[in-house]
Amino acid sequence: MRAAPDLRDGELRLRLLAEGDVDGIERGIRDPDVVRWFGPRGTALDVFEQKLREWREGTIVPLAVLEDGSFAGHIFLELLPEQDAALISYWLLPDARGRGLATRAVRMLTQWAFDVLGTARIELWLERGNDASRRVADRSGFTYEGTLRSAGLRDGRRFDKQMFSLLPGDPPPPR
Ligand SMILES: CC(C)(COP(=O)(O)OP(=O)(O)OC[C@H]1O[C@@H](n2cnc3c(N)ncnc32)[C@H](O)[C@@H]1OP(=O)(O)O)[C@@H](O)C(=O)NCCC(=O)NCCS
Repeated sequence: MRAAPDLRDGELRLRLLAEGDVDGIERGIRDPDVVRWFGPRGTALDVFEQKLREWREGTIVPLAVLEDGSFAGHIFLELLPEQDAALISYWLLPDARGRGLATRAVRMLTQWAFDVLGTARIELWLERGNDASRRVADRSGFTYEGTLRSAGLRDGRRFDKQMFSLLPGDPPPPR
């Protein structure tokens, strides 16, 4: 098992999910916007335990987003080792939105993946219509690659997936 990242940018910190985050995860996975874009989930404890298991197996990097020490959301990389690639996903609690935190968290974690894991390509998938997440992708320097029509299936509903990617040599996004 590799060392977990512990990344800081001012009041923002990303560190491995911990048991004390379960209440925050519960609030997140019950939030209507998170349910809308990620689908319904089981209990927060199940989510936490599964993510930690996958971390120990080396298949995901599941981090808490903390703002001034308080749980504000979740960001994670799913690792695709055969391709030297990773998929990034994130959500924030409603109170933490609208202040650019997701963009800063994505920038920190993608840089860590390039520098520490040597990841060659980071993908970001979102459902067409998720405009806030689209802004995060654009402002984090991702390139839009195309739309896979009806490629997603969540909770019995098909949707178009929009695909973005970030490569280590891509120009840094404007601040
Ligand atoms: C997506 C999400 C993480 C964005 O977090 P955030 O920290 O608020 O994002 P930022 O503040 O960096 O920027 C979001 C941008 O989208 C805009 N935005 C926010 N909500 C929006 C909405 N409902 N519709 C359109 N644009 C929206 C903001 O104005 C901002 O745009 P700007 O750069 O022009 O100012 C957050 O909205 C969230 O948790 N949503 C639910 C879960 C989710 O959709 N996760 C992504 C799945 S792919």
